[in-house]
Amino acid sequence: MNKTLSLVEDTNSASIRCITFSNPPVNAMSPALPGVLIKAVQKAQKDGCRAILLIPGASGVLAGADISVQGKDWPEDEPLMTELIAEIDASHVPVGILLRKSALGGGLEIALACRWRIATPGTQLGQPEVNLGIPPGAGGTQRLPRVIGAETALDMIVTGKPITTDAAHTIGLIDAVVNADGAEAASIRFLEQELAAGRIPDPVGPRTITGATPEVFAAARQLAAKRRRGETAPIEAIDAVETAKNMPLTEGLAIERAAFLRCVTSAQARAMRHLFFSERRALKGHVGAGVKAHATVQSVGIVGAGTMGTGIALAFLMKGFDVHVTERTQDVLDAGLARIKNTVQSSINKGRVSAAAAEAILGRLTFSVGLDGLRASDVIVEAAFEDMGVKASVFRELAELAKPDAVLATNTSYLDVNEIAKAAGPRASDVLGLHFFSPANIMPLLEIVRGAQTSDMALATAIALSGQLGKTSVVSGVCHGFIANRSFAAYTREAEFLLQEGATPAQVDAALVTFGMPMGPFAVRDLAGLDIGWAKRKSTAHLRNPSERYSKVGDLICERGWFGQKTGRGFYLYPDGARKGQPDPEVQAIIDASAKAAGITPRNITDEEIVERCLFAVVNEGAQIIDEGIARRASDVDVAWVNGYGFPRWRGGPMHWAGELGLQTVLKQIETFDKYHDFWCPADLLIRLAQAGQSFADRDNDMT
Ligand code: 3HC
Repeated sequence: MNKTLSLVEDTNSASIRCITFSNPPVNAMSPALPGVLIKAVQKAQKDGCRAILLIPGASGVLAGADISVQGKDWPEDEPLMTELIAEIDASHVPVGILLRKSALGGGLEIALACRWRIATPGTQLGQPEVNLGIPPGAGGTQRLPRVIGAETALDMIVTGKPITTDAAHTIGLIDAVVNADGAEAASIRFLEQELAAGRIPDPVGPRTITGATPEVFAAARQLAAKRRRGETAPIEAIDAVETAKNMPLTEGLAIERAAFLRCVTSAQARAMRHLFFSERRALKGHVGAGVKAHATVQSVGIVGAGTMGTGIALAFLMKGFDVHVTERTQDVLDAGLARIKNTVQSSINKGRVSAAAAEAILGRLTFSVGLDGLRASDVIVEAAFEDMGVKASVFRELAELAKPDAVLATNTSYLDVNEIAKAAGPRASDVLGLHFFSPANIMPLLEIVRGAQTSDMALATAIALSGQLGKTSVVSGVCHGFIANRSFAAYTREAEFLLQEGATPAQVDAALVTFGMPMGPFAVRDLAGLDIGWAKRKSTAHLRNPSERYSKVGDLICERGWFGQKTGRGFYLYPDGARKGQPDPEVQAIIDASAKAAGITPRNITDEEIVERCLFAVVNEGAQIIDEGIARRASDVDVAWVNGYGFPRWRGGPMHWAGELGLQTVLKQIETFDKYHDFWCPADLLIRLAQAGQSFADRDNDMT
C-alpha cells in the first residue's frame, strides 16, 4: 500500500463489515487502492459477513479515477478500478456504500455496482468525465441508464453536471439519506433493517434500460452539439449507451471500455487534463506558506453602480457576502440597484434561486451616496469610470476612510495598478487589482493583479476570496491589459489586419468559430460595444509608435457612431435589434478604403491563415507576458483564455495548443509572418523553448 493510502476494516455486531478507505485528499482510485479494496471485499465474503459497507474516509469525497495517472501506463501488477467494480458487482455478500460530499466519475461507478447507495444531504453525484475529454469508462454509460433511465442518465453524462442527494433520491439513484452527523451508524442501521426485512436489491446488470428511444438519443446528440461543440467524448458516450442498449451488461461494458481507451490518450483528453490541473495550480506559489489571508471577509464595499459594479455586487451577494454599493449620485445608484433587483428577479423566474433565497440575497445589500458607507467594509472593490484621475481620487479617499486592514481593490481593465496604489499613499500595500469579466456575476474568470507594493496578506486574501466566489482565477503582474486583455488585444489587432489584407469580418469570425471559439472577434467586439476600446485607443494614441502598423478600420467605424449591437451597427448590421449581425457593404467600403490608404493590395486569405495569424499572435504575446513575469506560468494564459474568452477547453488554451503543434512549427510559421508587419517579432521565450525542443509545459514544470 502506498504511504498515503489507508484501510480500516471493522465488523460490527450484526456482521456488517465496514471497509473504510482513505487516499487523501479526494480518495481517488490511484494504483494500489483498487487492489487493496478487492482483497478487503474478498475477505469479507470469506468471513461470512451478511453485508459490506464501503465508506470513503477522511474528506469523504469519492472523486473517481486518479486523473494524474490517466493516459499513462498503469502498473501491470495492480488491478484496475474496473476489476474492483466487477468484484463488488459479483460479490455474494451484498455491498452498500455511504456517499458523503461527492461521488464523481469512477466514484459513482463504484457506487452503481453496489446494491445500496446511501448519501448524506448535499452530496454531489455525477459523471463529469466529459470535462476530462473521456466518456465514463467503468460502467457509467451502462449502469447509470439501467438505474435512472436513458434520458436522465444521458443528460448527466453529456453535460457532466452532478446532481445532489435530494434529486438523486427522487430518481432512485440513492436508496437512503442519512444525516452527516452519525452517518456511519445510521447507514449500518439502514443495512440491518433492510437485511432483516429481506430487502436486498438485485444487481443492476440484468435490468433493462428504460426510455432508450430514438428521440431520447437524438435529443442527447442535440444537447452535445449545443453545449459541447467539437468534443468527441460526449458522442462516444452516447454511442456506447445506444449501441449497447439491448445488450447484456458485459458486452456493453466492453463497448464502453473501447470508447474510453480511444479517448483517454487523445489530444482532447490531454488538453482537458492540462486545464484540470492548471486551474488548480494557478493560485499556488504566489505567497509564502506562512502567509495568512485576513481572517474573515464578510462585508464587501463596491464603488460604482454601473454595469461592472452591479455585476460584481451580485457576484458577492450570491455567495453570501454583505455588500454595500456606493455611487456619486442618487440617480445612478437607483439605476444600479434596479439592475441588481432585476437580475435577482430573473434568477427567480428561471428557477435558479428560490424567492426566499432571493429575499436573503437582497437583504444583504445596502447602499449609499458617497464613499462614507464603506468604512466598515473588509474588502472594497472600486468599479468607477476607467480613468486614472477618477480612480486616483477614489483611492485617495478610500485610504483615509477604509478600516485599517481592509483590502482596496480596483477593477480596472487596463490602467496602471501601481499608479492607482500610489494615490492610496501609506495604504499602497493594501491595493491590488480584481479584474472581473463582464457580466461579473456569470463569467468565471477573475484576474488578481499584484502591484509592486501589494502585501502578501492582501494577495492571500484576494486568492481566498476567489475561491469563496467560485471564480477561476489567475494572478497577473502589472502591465497594460494584464494577462487576458493584453493577449486579447494582440488577437483583435491581427484580426483587423486580416481585414485590410482581404478577409471579411464574417470570414474571420467563421474561421475562428470553426476552430472552436464561441464567437469570432468582430462579433464579440460588436456585442461588448466598440466605444470603450475606441476611447482607450484615442487616449493612448500618443504612446503608439508611428512606424508600427495600425489599422484604422475600428476607429473609422466608431467615427460614424456605430458602436456595435447597441447602436444597430458595428462591424456588422443589426436591423430591428437582431442579435446576429449581417455583413455591411458600408463597412466593407471602409475596409477597402483603409487598405488602399495603407497601400495594401487585398488577396485571398485562407481560413487556416486566419486561425494561425490570430492565435499565434496570442501565443507570441503570451510568451512575452510569461517572459516578463506578468504571468507566472504559461498555463495561466490558458486558464485566462478558456475562462475569459471561451477558448475551446478541448484544445487546452492557446499555449497548450501551440505545444501540441510543436513550438518549432509555430516559430517557423511566425517567422514567415514578418512580411505582414513588424509586430511579428517572435518572443525570446518562444525562440529559446523551440530551440531547446521544449514546450511551454516543460518550462512550467521546471519552475513548480
Ligand atoms: N484524481 C486525482 N487528483 C484529483 C482528483 C482525481 N479524480 N480530483 C481532485 N484531485 C486533486 C486536485 O488536483 C487537488 O489537488 P491539489 O490539492 O494538489 O491541487 C485536490 O485533489 C483537491 O481537489 P480540488 O481542489 O478540486 O478540491 P475541491 O474540494 O474543490 O473539489 C472535487 C473536490 C469536487 C472532487 C473536485 O476535485 C473534482 O471535481 N475532481 C474531479 C472529479 C472527476 O472528474 N472525476 C472523474 C475522474 S475520471 C474517471 O473517474 C474515469 C472513470 O470513468 C473510469
